[in-house]
Amino acid sequence: MTTYKLLLLPGDGIGPEVMAEVERVVAVLGEAGLASFETETDLVGGAAVDAHGVPLADATLARARAADAILLGAVGGPKWTGVAYENRPEAGLLRLRKDLLLFANLRPALCYPALADASALKRELVEGLDIMIVRELTGGVYFGEPKEITTLPDGSKRAVDTQVYTTGEIDRIARVAFDLARKRGNRVASVEKNNVMKSGVLWKEVVTQLHAAEYADVELEHVLADNCAMQLVRRPKQYDVLVTDNLFGDILSDAASMLTGSLGMLPSASLGEVGADGTRAALYEPVHGSAPDIAGKDAANPLAMIGSLAMCLRYSFGLGEAADLVDGAITDALAGGARTRDIASEDSKVLGTKGMGEAVVAALKSRIG
Ligand code: NAD
Ligand code: IPM
Ligand code: MN
Repeated sequence: MTTYKLLLLPGDGIGPEVMAEVERVVAVLGEAGLASFETETDLVGGAAVDAHGVPLADATLARARAADAILLGAVGGPKWTGVAYENRPEAGLLRLRKDLLLFANLRPALCYPALADASALKRELVEGLDIMIVRELTGGVYFGEPKEITTLPDGSKRAVDTQVYTTGEIDRIARVAFDLARKRGNRVASVEKNNVMKSGVLWKEVVTQLHAAEYADVELEHVLADNCAMQLVRRPKQYDVLVTDNLFGDILSDAASMLTGSLGMLPSASLGEVGADGTRAALYEPVHGSAPDIAGKDAANPLAMIGSLAMCLRYSFGLGEAADLVDGAITDALAGGARTRDIASEDSKVLGTKGMGEAVVAALKSRIG
């Protein structure tokens, strides 16, 4: 059996708490002979700022490059608000994404049957929900230049962020979305704002051309981002795959999380191009942040992080059976009534992060038999 090198970057706030539960799941898979991992742990974000003065040390980036896949908890928090902009914890995560060329961020929003009543929407609007948000992750306003604050002659200031997209960047993310759609509901909604943004005009043009040339069998619609936000809350099940830019994808995925019950439910995969040898750089992380309001209280939902491990097994290692077991264990734990506070109803018995991790481990062991 191949032994895969996993780099664990727990990060800040609830990051280390949810990562600890993933380590337990990894151990069970190893003991059962379903997967074999060599794990290393390193610092990222505020934890790295405290130790090294930078949110991602060069040595950590080198370890990330050498790993077969990376699991990341979360970065950031109020402790580092005074740190220089270039060295803020979030800059470490952005550098990882940019330097490893992780342009494709997959953010699935699934409504687990047991959680239909935990959604912010009525049960009938979310029952069976299965949306895949494909977020472009290494371009757009996050990385465009110039990005600066300058002082004007009158002493006031001017802040600039730049939204940039090239044909190549749009084409490669659209391909990811169309390819995924073919394996799912065969429908893509492309989201931009061509009515006010040049990058939106080019986005729509490139997606339209690619669709006509190579993906005419996939149903395509174009949606303006503001309308898409409204439609997600009005009738979310109309969507199969959504493809959008870095900023719109960030915002729409947090909104989509509440359809499933909680931000603590959404996993993600950040993928690079497939290389000549068939491998691709990949980082897996929950969609949520470091949740400073609940950090250190054993209150975080670890399911987004555990679900990110399942995506890693599936997308990086082709371990579909192990991935199904982990996803199934999450489904079983929820069906058995396991609830952290964020997804609890009035009559639920509330578990902590560790309790939820235990419930998943127990469900996994019983599936393994
Ligand atoms: P957040 O995602 O950390 O939290 C938003 C809300 O959701 C909070 O009320 C929090 O308690 C809740 N929440 C988040 N994850 C949860 C979980 N697993 N279980 C239960 N409840 C959960 O967003 P924020 O508060 O806006 O940001 C806090 C910090 O995290 C900031 O520094 C931000 O930059 C950073 N951040 C990091 C990432 C990342 O590392 N990928 C993502 C988003 C935000
Ligand atoms: C996310 C986060 C990050 C983003 C931050 C922490 C840089 O919100 O992964 O969704 O904006 O991409
Ligand atoms: Mn976000």
